[in-house]
Amino acid sequence: MNTTVAEIADRIYRLSTFVPDIAPPAGFTFNQFLIDAQEPLLFHCGPRGLFPSVSRAAASVLPLERIRWISFGHVEADECGAMNAWLAACPQATVAHGMTACMVSLNDLADRAPRALAHGETIDLGGRRVRYIDTPHVPHGWEAGLLFEETTTTLFCGDLFTHAGNAAAITEGDIVGPAIAAEDMFKASALTPATAPTIRDLARLNPSTLAVMHGSSYSGDGAARLKELADDYARRLTRSLTAG
Ligand SMILES: [Fe+2]
Ligand SMILES: [Fe+2]
Repeated sequence: MNTTVAEIADRIYRLSTFVPDIAPPAGFTFNQFLIDAQEPLLFHCGPRGLFPSVSRAAASVLPLERIRWISFGHVEADECGAMNAWLAACPQATVAHGMTACMVSLNDLADRAPRALAHGETIDLGGRRVRYIDTPHVPHGWEAGLLFEETTTTLFCGDLFTHAGNAAAITEGDIVGPAIAAEDMFKASALTPATAPTIRDLARLNPSTLAVMHGSSYSGDGAARLKELADDYARRLTRSLTAG
């Protein structure tokens, strides 16, 4: 496996590994993000199998010993399979996640005690500042939550906007159409009455960069793209409730 590195916002690096066997023929990417600050933060750990390649890529950006925080969208192998490998490689690092994730899973799964964050709580990374946002069941997982980096207005979207293929690290083009196509294929999102409103709340952050876990990141009017994505989920919910 080869993990590539691209800077998608000022001192925010995307570590990307393309796996052609998933969703062929387009293939599928697994992306982690590294925020370079006085207290660097890694968002997404990747699965255990990718750890050698992803950690090598991260080490090309900064020494792993400097990483102070580890976070991710929700508890699944691609989000946090390698969490304990990172904790071992980064002796200063603490896992930070929402109350639910810590209470339900991470207090047990993590080799070092995690820090539980309240909805809206911030961590000052020194030069960068992240805000934790609870997004239960969006796109899936009771414990789901995201981070918003306030100085660059980058929203770490997790699985939102997931799309297949291995296009550019960052695009100003359409990411909603490919995300709708991927949702049709994978049906990975939990469709609930809270899905669209939760995504519309994220639009209020007005992000200029959307850091996407699977596929290209996006630069531009992030609020507009989030509202379009929310509209698609609202349509899906209405269709499902009125079918038959
Ligand atoms: Fe997921
Ligand atoms: Fe994911």
